[in-house]
Amino acid sequence: MALLEAMPQTGYNVGAIMEGSGMARYVNMVVEPPGPKAREVMKQDSRYVATTTKTSPVVADHASGGVVTDVDGNDMLDFASGIAVLNVGHSHPKVVRAVKEQAERMFHFAGTDFYYSAQVDLARRLSASVPGEEERKVFLSNSGTESIEAAMKLARWNSGRGRFMAFLGAFHGRTLGALSLTASKPAQQERFFPVVPGAVHVPYAYCYRCAYGMEPSSCGAHCARVIEEAYFETNVPPEEVAALFIEPVQGEGGYIVPPPQFVKEVASICRRRGILLVDDEVQAGMGRTGRLWAIEHYGVVPDILCSSKALGSGVPIGATVFPARLDMAQGAHSNTFGGNLLGCAAALATLDVIEEEDLLVRATSLGDHLHRRLLELQERHELIGDVRGLGLMQAVEMVKDRGTKVHAAAERDRVIEHAYRRGLILLPAGRSAIRFAPPLTVDEDFLDEGIEILDLALREAVRG
Ligand SMILES: Cc1ncc(COP(=O)(O)O)c(C=O)c1O
Repeated sequence: MALLEAMPQTGYNVGAIMEGSGMARYVNMVVEPPGPKAREVMKQDSRYVATTTKTSPVVADHASGGVVTDVDGNDMLDFASGIAVLNVGHSHPKVVRAVKEQAERMFHFAGTDFYYSAQVDLARRLSASVPGEEERKVFLSNSGTESIEAAMKLARWNSGRGRFMAFLGAFHGRTLGALSLTASKPAQQERFFPVVPGAVHVPYAYCYRCAYGMEPSSCGAHCARVIEEAYFETNVPPEEVAALFIEPVQGEGGYIVPPPQFVKEVASICRRRGILLVDDEVQAGMGRTGRLWAIEHYGVVPDILCSSKALGSGVPIGATVFPARLDMAQGAHSNTFGGNLLGCAAALATLDVIEEEDLLVRATSLGDHLHRRLLELQERHELIGDVRGLGLMQAVEMVKDRGTKVHAAAERDRVIEHAYRRGLILLPAGRSAIRFAPPLTVDEDFLDEGIEILDLALREAVRG
């Protein structure tokens, strides 16, 4: 009930939701959200559905492209994409057709124990898409977490080493293995200790809040170099580290974009020390940043690449792409649903749409537009301390004061709530950031409409 109770019922005027702005093309609010039907679903949900991470009271009924219609008939702009899943938009006709056709032919056949060509087609395509010359294979699963678990097992099985490294602020999943690498909020690990032992976290290149108080222009990727110069000298025997996991843009941690030099330096340390570099593209991949894989921005070749989320456009699928030389023995790892027929059909159609609709170019130009518009907002709103992002993976970080950079978490939450009441769906990230991850298929008007609502929501949030 907490979310429901938190929603005030006063001061809402449907006719004025776009006050001060032009005509809304996409948003159409017919009732104050959450409306009566939404409230009923939320009530029942709180009774029957396990508590997870819900932060927004949007109760969806259906969606198309970038617009979600809630159960009370409100059309809302989706700047969250089901947590960065709907890169080709909600229910893209090509993906819908592929899944429908597959469902009519066959739902399931356990591709780990039997054969079907959809797995081969997807694995071949994913292998070819990853940077580097090495021959690769793919382990297919159902989620981001599972794609990470597979990478952990591949790394241990092949190296005989037991330890892992990851970054502060990282999110790699919630099963006990992946959770041991996750470090973006204490609640994620609280009461679950012991997780898989031997995971060490080191600072990420969070330049807006540099752990070492340095400037990115002159630091020489200091935070990468301390892995070698401090951790390997004091605490972590490098010859025991199986793999280092990195998000090329840190997602749940706050959409943090590291400088290329940092990623390059991390990769070269891994190479020198025989540590496998695992590129977690679960949130940043599949075109979101303007490249199919975000790591391509840095000219770095990962050993293992993990994908999920947008890969299946909403049909669960995960993929761990690894060098063929690291393949494990029969029986070492498997599952029932991994690379299931519907997931493979959705993933193949999604890859087609990204190519056919030039979505990498689109993500870049729309991302530039959104970034510019967010910088304009920063000029008007003191609350916005930082604007950052790559392609359509953009964020603003809220601060109480630009000098002290104290996190403005409560204000951030208020902005998200006011935006929701006007028809803009947003998700938080990190301690006080808002992430913007609309589908890559939207247009500039869609983004501008979102920015206008955000502008109003920022003003309202300051008022209280
Ligand atoms: C970078 C990253 N890795 C892994 C995961 C875990 O994926 P899933 O929630 O599908 O298990 C997430 C989920 O947000 C993620 O953002």
